[in-house]
Amino acid sequence: MSEHILTICYLFASVTFILGLKMLSHPLSARKGNLLAALGMTIAILATIFLYRDDETGQHLHNYGWIFGGLLIGAIIGTLAAKKVKMTAMPEMVSLFNGMGGACAALISLVEFNHLSAEITLTGITEGHAGKIVIIVLGLIIGSVSFAGSMIAWGKLNGKVKDMSFTGQNILNLAVLALAIGLGVWLVVHPDQHIIVYVILFLSLFYGVFFVMPIGGADMPVVISLLNSFTGVAAACGGFLYDNKVMLTGGILVGAAGTLLTILMCKAMNRSLLNVLIGSFGGNQAGAVSSTSSQGHYKEVSLSDAAMLMSFANKVMIVPGYGLAVAQAQHTCHELEKILSEKGVDVKYAIHPVAGRMPGHMNVLLAEADVNYEKLLEMEQANDEFKTCDVVLILGANDVVNPAAKKDPASPIYGMPILEVELAKNVIVNKRSMKPGYAGIENDLFFQPKTSMLFGDAKKVLQDLVTEIKSV
Ligand code: TAP
Repeated sequence: MSEHILTICYLFASVTFILGLKMLSHPLSARKGNLLAALGMTIAILATIFLYRDDETGQHLHNYGWIFGGLLIGAIIGTLAAKKVKMTAMPEMVSLFNGMGGACAALISLVEFNHLSAEITLTGITEGHAGKIVIIVLGLIIGSVSFAGSMIAWGKLNGKVKDMSFTGQNILNLAVLALAIGLGVWLVVHPDQHIIVYVILFLSLFYGVFFVMPIGGADMPVVISLLNSFTGVAAACGGFLYDNKVMLTGGILVGAAGTLLTILMCKAMNRSLLNVLIGSFGGNQAGAVSSTSSQGHYKEVSLSDAAMLMSFANKVMIVPGYGLAVAQAQHTCHELEKILSEKGVDVKYAIHPVAGRMPGHMNVLLAEADVNYEKLLEMEQANDEFKTCDVVLILGANDVVNPAAKKDPASPIYGMPILEVELAKNVIVNKRSMKPGYAGIENDLFFQPKTSMLFGDAKKVLQDLVTEIKSV
């Protein structure tokens, strides 16, 4: 009886994962989708703990103290970390949590290999054992790569790990990976040679570290998404191993979603995955010297002139970027939008798919400030509307409005689709200095005749703008 209830719980959980994932695709339903999938996961975990029975002994799980102790510690750490994390540090946290998933998959493989080899000592190797060892090796390699790579990505995002590459690194990496896979094949034939499993573990960890080391910091979100899909596949291997349908479904969904996200992010930057993996773009050179020479003089606009220009405009387009998130100025930005709207100005937001530091960063940021989702335009729509705008107000965005992406084939961001803000009548750029954005390159837009710079921290500037506009 309990097996049937367990199967129904797993079926229910699988359905919540699929529905939850679907609901995540729209900001209005995303929060509920997340909760729904979390409910499904909680049911799957509790059902496994209380209803699962060992096929041979017919016994339920025991060691409840260890299980609930682990759950409690993990839940406390996870809750505190998620509550404390700043929006700008979210990719770091995702990377850390993803690494933990990879480590779990690798540990499952290690534990199950020990169980299996004890069994083989008694019964001798059969075809079924060979299949299981293949799954164990796959879970071990993919999980360890994901763990080690995610830890390096986490270190890079918080500035603790610097880019590192040397000549022939890609060849060495491929050789290490090939050796790990080769030893995996050897292990299938010689499962009694226990030491091999630890050599594979070491080689996979080495590969994970050296695979991510040379990749530029700006590309870390893409790498994290890729590693996330690896973790999903590694978890699915665990599902095969335990013949656990919900683990299999969850793993496959994570693997597929991570792969799709990786492809979408590469498309949004017009770069191939190979270019991301070996291109060494952005990263620790953020704020470094520009790759193109200065384009001449830029002009500044005063707060009162900017307030006047926007108050008497028919249409204003706001372009949010990473700087808006850093300044945590989303609420003040919404206030500015409301005040302008009250004055009869049509205000919209132009959202670039890779503005900020993670997919959907700007959508989440503006949703936090209760900005009406209808006001957010995707890049293609915004590009159609810029020509009808009197003012474009850029708030802490840089690379996503850099015309070099269209005009300069030598630029590292050449080919990336951008928001074509120059089509508007006036462009006001708010940032703190003339420093480059994450790609580390200068921006021609700031030197164009229709562009005016409005320097200062986005929050302070927006607060002052709101005060000025109120008095216009
Ligand atoms: P960036 O190009 O990084 O520019 C952000 C600008 O904000 C900087 O130039 C900075 O200039 C300014 N800023 C920082 N703090 C500020 C503050 N407190 N107040 C006002 N301005 C501030 O950002 P973007 O235009 O959003 O582009 C995102 C970049 O990340 C792209 O290169 C993209 O390819 C990359 N990336 C994103 C993703 C995803 S999924 N979002 C994934 C991979 C790569 P100052 O220092 O002068 O203030």
